[in-house]
Amino acid sequence: MTSALPNRIVHAPGDPDWLADLTRSLSPETRWRRQEPLAKRTTLRVGGPADLLIEPATEADLAAVLRLCKAQRVPVLIVGRGSNLLVQDAGFRGVVVCLTHAEFTQVEVRECGLHCGAGAKLKAVAQAAKRHGLGNLEFLEGIPGSVGGALRMNAGASGSALFDVVERVRFMEFTGQVAERRGAEVGAEYRSCPFFRERVALSAVLVGDPAERKAIEARMLAFNQRRWRSQPAAPSAGCIFKNPGTQSAGRLIDELGLKDLRVGGARVSREHANFIVNDGGATAREVLALIELIRQRVRAERGVELELEVQVVGD
Ligand code: EPU
Repeated sequence: MTSALPNRIVHAPGDPDWLADLTRSLSPETRWRRQEPLAKRTTLRVGGPADLLIEPATEADLAAVLRLCKAQRVPVLIVGRGSNLLVQDAGFRGVVVCLTHAEFTQVEVRECGLHCGAGAKLKAVAQAAKRHGLGNLEFLEGIPGSVGGALRMNAGASGSALFDVVERVRFMEFTGQVAERRGAEVGAEYRSCPFFRERVALSAVLVGDPAERKAIEARMLAFNQRRWRSQPAAPSAGCIFKNPGTQSAGRLIDELGLKDLRVGGARVSREHANFIVNDGGATAREVLALIELIRQRVRAERGVELELEVQVVGD
């Protein structure tokens, strides 16, 4: 999940007073590191460091971080599993927040709803649904994301998207205030949920339909097999472009013969043309150059303007 305050930096996070203010207010369980490389926090494995990376241990600590960053006008970026993220080579000037602490990764079934922390992996959510005989959530298994990231992106696969199954969401404003809203009131779109641009998702309640465990397993297996056949295993950021209207971006790029087109270590996947894979040592600059080449060819030869699905962040 990404979320950034648009304001300019007044104090750099390396500033000792500012950092001292921030870290003094946090509990000892909250982890933080300066100059943390972000490449290893993304599935594409490119990008430079964050000035400061914080893994809050509690909602109170998260609120303290957001409030202080807002007051100091330091940009904040929330990173989930980083599966839809392209971090620029110079990294991110500001504070990256990861909801990886146990406080934010719980998944439990209560009153037929699946209560999921924003930091929980979608795979864990799908497995919990299977254990409790809740169907219609199988599509989540193959999406390499966290609940928070998937809310921000309205992530989807196999004909379903997350907000199809969200009953309600709990979130924090950058003021630290916590509130809840029904999923239907949040205004999710195809591969985007603008509501979470300026808010931090804390948790969601998902609803499934009672189903036989065997039937759930069979559906998961069918989805997985289809994905293994049609998508690359190499590091990538998932689909690079949104599908334009009813057309498939992957098919369009494939039809233009662009599979295997390469800029440095970045290459259009052989398995699925809407994926760019990192063959090792790719830079963000190379990935962006390849994106531009694809866009130009699709524009020139098909008259279609491809819109990025992947979120580009940093300097
Ligand atoms: N196709 C090609 N060549 C390619 C890729 C696809 O001819 O290189 C054809 C396929 O054979 C198929 C059609 O294009 O007939 C559509 O392809 P696919 O079924 O793979 O679906 P998609 O629209 O490309 C969407 C999502 C994926 C999701 C899959 C499967 C978008 C942009 N992509 O892909 O989501 O996994 O359906 O449900 O909506 C993601 O968002 O990161 C992502 C991977």
